[in-house]
Amino acid sequence: MISRKQIVDYYDSCEIDYRMNWHLDECLALHIGYWDKSTKTLAQALVRQNEIMGEKGRITASDRVLDAGCGVGGSSIFLAKSRGCQVVGITLSHKQARSATGFARKKGVHEQTDFQVMDYTNTGFADESFDVVWALESSCYAASKKTFINEAYRILKKGGRLIVADGFESKDTYSPFERKIFDLWIKRWAVDALEPLPKFRQHLSDAGFIKINYEDITKNVTPSSRRLFALAIVTWPLAKMAQALGKRSKIQNDNLAGAFFQYLVLKLNLGSYGMFYAEKK
Ligand SMILES: C[S@@+](CC[C@H](N)C(=O)[O-])C[C@H]1O[C@@H](n2cnc3c(N)ncnc32)[C@H](O)[C@@H]1O
Repeated sequence: MISRKQIVDYYDSCEIDYRMNWHLDECLALHIGYWDKSTKTLAQALVRQNEIMGEKGRITASDRVLDAGCGVGGSSIFLAKSRGCQVVGITLSHKQARSATGFARKKGVHEQTDFQVMDYTNTGFADESFDVVWALESSCYAASKKTFINEAYRILKKGGRLIVADGFESKDTYSPFERKIFDLWIKRWAVDALEPLPKFRQHLSDAGFIKINYEDITKNVTPSSRRLFALAIVTWPLAKMAQALGKRSKIQNDNLAGAFFQYLVLKLNLGSYGMFYAEKK
């Protein structure tokens, strides 16, 4: 089982890779990016993913949003700026919460945003505190996806919306070889297990959510997935050398190796990427 400390260590150690390869300081995104006709660059795809989810959630200025697993605050800042809403962002990493607070100040939305270190499976927020719970590539880290969903249900107001974008298991059964490929990706990105799609849907329904909708957007994230794959291949020899010289850590090089295997998982149809939308009754 991957611990919370391992998740924090992964993000704090690999921040440099996201900075160098994923425009972290400009785009503030730790997600994969959504490609369509309107996107030509990675930076555009990273923003587009926020736009697509914002549209799906019909987020407006009167909403109070929880960005559950907020990274360095990119989506929270995007939503505060573009939709005019109030956003609380939570993450396990103190470093990320500090960065997010700094970025929000720089972007002029510090009064609309608040970043805290908190576990999204046990938040401490009062019942019915939020209009929207937003989880962009963060629910995958929950040891129990059911617990995450139940907590989201509890803190949503009646009629509130949950929007999740993430990777999922897409097959009923896996051969030992397929399981190995899967694990060579997810464990290196500090994820214990992705949820099978039908199980995630069942948790939503069991919690009481209605109007549950899933949209497969694997094809929209594949260009970014391919880019990560290519990056891993090209930079691997240098990264190994840097590790031997003590300039890169094992966690950082595992992150790079994970970037290789995530593409194989998509290409072998072992996993899929999609967005869930659901409303509290
Ligand atoms: C892949 S990053 C995504 C960050 C952000 N949503 C984005 O799109 O840039 C995953 C985030 O989930 C957070 N996370 C993982 N488990 C969590 C938990 N139990 N409670 C709160 N945040 C968590 C991590 O700290 C990290 O910020």
